[in-house]
Amino acid sequence: MRCNVGAAIWQGVPIAHVLEVSDLKTVFRTHDGVIHAVNGISFTLDEGELLAVVGESGSGKSVAMMSLMQLLPMPPARIANGSVMFQDQDLVQLGASEIRQVRGARIGFVFQDPMTSLNPVFTVGYQIMEPLREHMGLNKKQARQRAIELLDLVGIPAAPSASTIIRTSFRAACASAW
Ligand SMILES: Nc1ncnc2c1ncn2[C@@H]1O[C@H](COP(=O)(O)OP(=O)(O)OP(=O)(O)O)[C@@H](O)[C@H]1O
Ligand SMILES: [Mg+2]
Repeated sequence: MRCNVGAAIWQGVPIAHVLEVSDLKTVFRTHDGVIHAVNGISFTLDEGELLAVVGESGSGKSVAMMSLMQLLPMPPARIANGSVMFQDQDLVQLGASEIRQVRGARIGFVFQDPMTSLNPVFTVGYQIMEPLREHMGLNKKQARQRAIELLDLVGIPAAPSASTIIRTSFRAACASAW
């Protein structure tokens, strides 16, 4: 699977890509042998560009995108080859704490099945605040305020107090999601 959207050129000078994935290979080691899930994907993404990766089920779209951000369990997964250049850093080479600073803060990720992404055990407010605190460095008060703003933005009405909205929002989100 290969998708190349081409290099951006301005007056004959190539503009650095926002993201440049080169010959990325991801394998899974299983009891039945090695599965070559992603077999040499290369693409570039420039500022303002949208890129859709299309392929049949099981062709490796999700594994490829999760490989970019080291979101696969390793083992059994292993990035066997390639580089993922993002703002002069090869994401494949980053350590666990370094890649955590990229996730959420500099690259967002919407998982394939968003219906299972919210955990009903935790309030929606908590689940919005967690990445804001973890990745954006906001304190609890700032994260709570931002969570309320974000909920407002998508039309979930504000409640009289912040603690109320966090609970109210969970019910509202449940009602609209299920
Ligand atoms: N944990 C795993 N262990 C072994 N193989 C895996 C694992 N996760 C994914 N695979 C294999 O990797 C391949 C690519 O799967 P992937 O989920 O990326 O496909 P996809 O293109 O996203 O499919 P879909 O369109 O259905 O979402 C599949 O053959 C799948 O069985
Ligand atoms: Mg998928």
